[in-house]
Amino acid sequence: MSAKLKLGVLISGRGSNLQSLIDATQDDSFPAEIVSVISNVPDVAGLDRAAKVDIPTSVINHKDFSGREPFEDALHEALTEAGVELVCLAGFMRILTDGFVSRWLDKMINIHPSLLPSFKGLHTHERAIEAGVRFSGCTIHFVRPEMDDGPIIAQAAVPIRQDDSPDTLAGRVLVEEHKIYPLAVKMIAEGRVSITGSRVIVSNAVNPDSTTINPA
Ligand code: GAR
Repeated sequence: MSAKLKLGVLISGRGSNLQSLIDATQDDSFPAEIVSVISNVPDVAGLDRAAKVDIPTSVINHKDFSGREPFEDALHEALTEAGVELVCLAGFMRILTDGFVSRWLDKMINIHPSLLPSFKGLHTHERAIEAGVRFSGCTIHFVRPEMDDGPIIAQAAVPIRQDDSPDTLAGRVLVEEHKIYPLAVKMIAEGRVSITGSRVIVSNAVNPDSTTINPA
């Protein structure tokens, strides 16, 4: 069997997306493994999720550094030492500098709780409801220097209900986040993902032709 792709997962909190990756990697046939989980915030639940299954964890607290660059140097060193080949941002709530992004260009992916390029930034669900759009969702994309920008690997659409609150919508989007993160990692690890300009092409992709209409 060929070697598994080595993942480093960066978190800042609860870690439910990290958990979806942990669950996927528990299957022997999954083509990637998590070699390091790093949080920039101490004592978060995501660290416990990793420790429970003996994945090495560390805290690199941005508050312990004099600025973004020394913080990112420490992150880079930890990821490199662990042999990380793909960085997965999973609820990692620090903006990364161009320098760090270029060191991990095409080797760092992010999950964002909207259908990018709509609703970059924070409070996505509140803003999607407020805008009156009929669908929201989530996106996995390669990271580029501009926030929440970069070639899109996978998305899932979630209909917005008329009585949705940001929390109810977030809950249904999160269910889909937990599906598309392992899917995107699997496709990358299988070598099926290539970047052409601002697009991602997935070889042997299966595309459903069904249309979802909302309201029906
Ligand atoms: C997720 O909904 C993720 O999409 C979002 O933070 C949450 C983290 O949850 N990420 C962002 O907003 C990044 N801009 P988790 O810690 O349970 O995975």
